[in-house]
Amino acid sequence: MKINKICCIGAGYVGGPTMAVIAQKCPDLTVTVVDLNQERINAWNDENTDNIPIFEPGLSEVVAETRGKNLFFSSDVEKAIEEAQVIFISVNTPTKTYGKGKGMAADLKYIELCARQIAKVAKDNKIVVEKSTLPVRTAEAIKSILDNTGNGVQFQILSNPEFLAEGTAVSDLLNPDRILIGGDQTPEGLKAINTLVDIYANWVPRDKILTTNVWSSELSKLTANAFLAQRISSINALSELCEKTGADVNEVARAIGMDSRIGPKFLKASVGFGGSCFKKDILNLVYIAKSYGLQQTADYWEQVIIMNDHQKKRFAEGIVKTLYNTVAGKKITFLGWAFKKDTNDTRESAAIYAADDLISEQAAVCVFDPKVSNKKILADLDELQTRTPDKNAQSISSFENPYEACKDAHAIAILTEWDEFTEYDWQKIYESMQKPAFVFDGRNILDKTKLQKIGFVYQGIGS
Ligand code: NAD
Ligand code: UGA
Repeated sequence: MKINKICCIGAGYVGGPTMAVIAQKCPDLTVTVVDLNQERINAWNDENTDNIPIFEPGLSEVVAETRGKNLFFSSDVEKAIEEAQVIFISVNTPTKTYGKGKGMAADLKYIELCARQIAKVAKDNKIVVEKSTLPVRTAEAIKSILDNTGNGVQFQILSNPEFLAEGTAVSDLLNPDRILIGGDQTPEGLKAINTLVDIYANWVPRDKILTTNVWSSELSKLTANAFLAQRISSINALSELCEKTGADVNEVARAIGMDSRIGPKFLKASVGFGGSCFKKDILNLVYIAKSYGLQQTADYWEQVIIMNDHQKKRFAEGIVKTLYNTVAGKKITFLGWAFKKDTNDTRESAAIYAADDLISEQAAVCVFDPKVSNKKILADLDELQTRTPDKNAQSISSFENPYEACKDAHAIAILTEWDEFTEYDWQKIYESMQKPAFVFDGRNILDKTKLQKIGFVYQGIGS
């Protein structure tokens, strides 16, 4: 089958950037990204590509280069499905908030809706690609929905999980460590796999394109996220021991990271990992293990989440304890709200939980984040439903200028590792604060010696 039209259902953090890069690297392909969310589609189509809904270094340039040529954003889902030969599904797969598996299993209702819509609309044979992160064996359910339409259309389901990280999405997409494609090991399945391999081979060396059966591909994605998160929880667990013993977690991480079998990446102790995926994907893995009766496997991976929750909690508790056991009426300034630098995404950010705990202790929390709006900060807090939206609005405020945000504060907490925080005039910040002036560096990014010399009381994570 000669492929000239593809579409992607879901114009989010994965669908948008992934399709923009495919469009850039495959000028002969027409790429349409569709979403039910009209507001999101309008933002993707904003005349000024700086206003696209997702902030990622380099992304607005790729969109500017391709949009209107071979990249299109639309809310006409059915038309896009009908015209495309390959359909990527990149919708959200959040943790279930109701019914069986509540709080653990992945909610597949959006995936199922896509499958039903494809089944309804498709008039000719299609390749359907799971780009969303899904529980192992989801392709079976999609296939069952698609194969029961009775209209004679043949579908091939491929699993092609995405490994990009936010903040580095464009470079990850341009230079991926690997592309993983799982498909049926039948002649038709292998043909479909090759079709997708050929698309990626436009810019990814073929030896980095790995093909497997569907189940291995689905499970590899959950496994990769579980391993990455496990490293963070492992180093965070040791950060607490460092604080008790006088060891410095940065030095420990460096020492173990030089062992080539361990490697230096993902060993940065922090206030805890956030993001929309690590927690939900591990909970999903735990749920799957439990549903097969593998209690020990489930417990083993659940500990990664338990450790992360502990790390977030103990960060807020540490602030209260150091500020003489009360933060009531004290101004605590958060530098950073996004779950990591170089993104405007705040999903599951440790900042939300730390702020919530401090507000419960009656602190006045002020926030500065270069990419997150006051509206988003309030919405994130409201989602926790700890108190009324009115009460949240009274307890938290945000500033567009970091120096204003820090003025008169009793303490500053670093929640996101934005590079610009290291470049601030810390002497000036110190002079504007209440004394003693405290810094709680939840990312270990500031120069401890320099800050102590200025007069700050500095506390890092595990150092
Ligand atoms: P997102 O919430 O940013 O985007 C999903 C989009 O799908 C939303 O805009 C939503 O409106 C749309 N949508 C839902 N149902 C739809 C339907 N039936 N028709 C049309 N549009 C629909 O989510 P995301 O962060 O892009 O994640 C998508 C998937 O990719 C998830 O499974 C996630 O686990 C996985 N993933 C995410 C990342 C990441 O960095 N965010 C990385 C790798 C994998
Ligand atoms: C992660 C994975 O890295 C991607 O490969 C995967 O595709 C993606 O999840 C997904 O499936 O959604 P992402 O969550 O965007 O990507 O960002 P990461 O760089 O992994 O950071 C996750 C969290 O861990 C952030 O809060 C970050 O600050 C924290 N982190 C990371 C640490 O605390 N220490 C580290 O050493 C590394």
